[in-house]
Amino acid sequence: MPITTCIFDAYGTLFDVAAAARNVAAEPGYVSFAAHWPKIAEHWRQKQLQYTWLRAVTGQHTDFWDVTQNGLDWALEAEGLQDDHALRERLLQLYWELDAFAEVPAMLNTLKDRGLNTAILSNGSPDMLNGAVQSAQIGDVLDDVLSVESVRIFKPASVVYDLVGQRFDCAKREVLFVSSNGWDASAAAGYGFTTAWVNRAGDPVDRLPAKPNHILPDLTSIPELAGV
Ligand code: LAC
Repeated sequence: MPITTCIFDAYGTLFDVAAAARNVAAEPGYVSFAAHWPKIAEHWRQKQLQYTWLRAVTGQHTDFWDVTQNGLDWALEAEGLQDDHALRERLLQLYWELDAFAEVPAMLNTLKDRGLNTAILSNGSPDMLNGAVQSAQIGDVLDDVLSVESVRIFKPASVVYDLVGQRFDCAKREVLFVSSNGWDASAAAGYGFTTAWVNRAGDPVDRLPAKPNHILPDLTSIPELAGV
């Protein structure tokens, strides 16, 4: 069955979150952050994701902006930086003005030129996602930005993946789902999408029930994978 619809995770997949934290360390006024940023970036992301999973299994949903702040607060305290309010504000601001990875605009343009549906499916709340899409200037090559807020539970709950078929009226096998999160690509493969895991870090494959169909170093070959 040909691919008609390409769906992308947002943070870490289209938007380069880690580079944003690294860039703050290079800004005047944040020189001392240079020693801390790799740990903070790592802990921030780990805690942010853990909190999404825990809130999903306990039925205690809050939006992604909340868990993003909770994760950052944990990460700052682990590095003894919990009282640096200016740093906290600057890091949070990043989520509203992220760069897309370099290959993203051309890749999305090609998909749109060839007539495929394109959209984001993300844990992000709609206003966070709209801010990042505008900042990266990719709004005109996306048909939609789908947020878990419409079902109020985080990935990998299957009702989140259901949003794709509801929006585009397509079969699961017509969807190429692309994520830099191994667990997201795995869950989406188990759900029935064709999936590509963008494994920029060369991490091991997650030991989960389903495996991603494709493993890619970046997003360049997505149009080829989609058969266009
Ligand atoms: C998202 C996170 C999981 O965009 O990266 O949904």
